[in-house]
Amino acid sequence: MNIHKVIIPVAGWGTRSLPATKNIPKEMLPVYNKPVVQYVVEEAIASGLNDVCFITNRDKNVIEDHFDHNLQLEAVLERAGKTQQLEVIRRVATMINCISIRQKQQLGLGHAVLCAKEVMSGDEAFAVMVGDDLMFGMNPGIKQLIDVAQSERLSVIGVMEVPQEHVSRYGIISGTEISPGIYQVEKLVEKPKIDEAPSRLAIVGRYVLSSSIFKHLESIAPGHGGEIQLTDALQLQANTQGLLAVKIHGMRFDTGDWAEYLTANIYFALQEEELRDDLIRHLRPLLPFG
Ligand code: UTP
Repeated sequence: MNIHKVIIPVAGWGTRSLPATKNIPKEMLPVYNKPVVQYVVEEAIASGLNDVCFITNRDKNVIEDHFDHNLQLEAVLERAGKTQQLEVIRRVATMINCISIRQKQQLGLGHAVLCAKEVMSGDEAFAVMVGDDLMFGMNPGIKQLIDVAQSERLSVIGVMEVPQEHVSRYGIISGTEISPGIYQVEKLVEKPKIDEAPSRLAIVGRYVLSSSIFKHLESIAPGHGGEIQLTDALQLQANTQGLLAVKIHGMRFDTGDWAEYLTANIYFALQEEELRDDLIRHLRPLLPFG
């Protein structure tokens, strides 16, 4: 099973991040010195996924532009002898092959994935990475799923344990642990009430899916919140072809949530040796125990 294509849905309205996202896609908000979506793309590349299909809307052209050349800026940097910056922007322009497909109505994550049906050729399995979810660890999050999908020849979704009080924000699974951290999925519930969640294993924004997901997406009615839910199509996949969940090792930041977005900024800035001491010096007096 060769997996080299990834769908990155970025067509949502980003209402939780208003007013910042009134005219800027939330996937383009910076985390330290890069837009959110660049971290997602870098995780894809580190996992062997170089062919990217962005699912966009009419206001998101800037995402595609970010991964293309800006010849005028390159010329300016070249003339000014700013070779390091020139290299940085040229690297971004050449890191992926990308296409984009418009999701003309924001009918949910499942609908966004379905928009890519025509460009995901034949029976090929592919990855889906949600464009505002950042993951970091020794092994890229999506690579952890690809390894299991390739050895088990099944669709695989990424999960992480969340506190009980947060289960209503996620799709939650239940299943049988068939080896450490790997579950045969039985049930998936989108945003359950706290006392109705079948577990604390939350679906996070990483998936490796077989092409049969498209026929399931076409067959389902709108679910939770009136949206075409990927979770509902995955339930059909679990009932028929089978579905595995892998507990992803690493850190995750949902950048659509302000506290997590700001934490991600601090986390990445702290990794920069030149910035770390200054940042700590500025932060310390602001903290209650500073
Ligand atoms: P979210 O659940 O974060 O929704 O989508 P959202 O609409 O973008 O944001 P809020 O909740 O209003 O703040 C998760 C991912 O799925 C994409 C989003 O762009 C985001 O990357 N998405 C969501 C789509 O591409 N299309 C949709 O119809 C919905």
